[in-house]
Amino acid sequence: MSKGRESGMPDESYWDTFFNPECIVAKLDCAGLRGNVLEFGCGYGTFTIPTAKLVHGNVVALDIDPDMVSITARKAEEAGLPNVTTKLRDFVADGCGVPEGYAEYAMLFNILHIENPVGLLKEAYRVLAPGGKAGIIHWRSDIKTPRGPSPDIRPSAEQCRVWGEQAGLNFDRYESLCCCSWHWGLVMSRPTVRI
Ligand SMILES: C[S@@+](CC[C@H](N)C(=O)[O-])C[C@H]1O[C@@H](n2cnc3c(N)ncnc32)[C@H](O)[C@@H]1O
Repeated sequence: MSKGRESGMPDESYWDTFFNPECIVAKLDCAGLRGNVLEFGCGYGTFTIPTAKLVHGNVVALDIDPDMVSITARKAEEAGLPNVTTKLRDFVADGCGVPEGYAEYAMLFNILHIENPVGLLKEAYRVLAPGGKAGIIHWRSDIKTPRGPSPDIRPSAEQCRVWGEQAGLNFDRYESLCCCSWHWGLVMSRPTVRI
């Protein structure tokens, strides 16, 4: 198994200072989803837990790092969220392990700096039901940030849009994350008719 480049995590307490996760997931259309959610790289469950509180379906949280998986599972249990399923999995090498069309929403948060972003977006396309959405966030490049991938591999929202379109997704909108200083947001969706 191999972790995507520059995908290691700092201490949880430091990571938590960068986000207002409840605001981010609400702005990126997670509230009230009836279907399932697939999260590519759950990390500390920063976004898993607030999302699971907002949706009616299951949240399948994948990560290659056993510590991240067990921390997220423990948080879900402590929060009394039976709709969270955590799985230790290399989604780059092995895909996400759920059937085509399983999810209404795919979370790609702080992950598209990996070696093959289009390959991962194709897997997101596969797992989404027609009309399902992909929410993407990443570190801004237009300002100095306290953390984030190296400038040469840090993708812009516009670059992620192009990659998403190469994977077959439609562009829905850029979302300014005014509740979060360091990140931008993007929403794309799987077309309702195959193209
Ligand atoms: C930068 S962290 C972001 C975590 C979370 N999405 C967030 O924004 O808080 C990226 C996560 O993806 C995981 N990851 C990296 N490569 C992976 C792979 N090939 N398969 C599964 N998880 C992977 C890492 O272990 C890490 O937890």
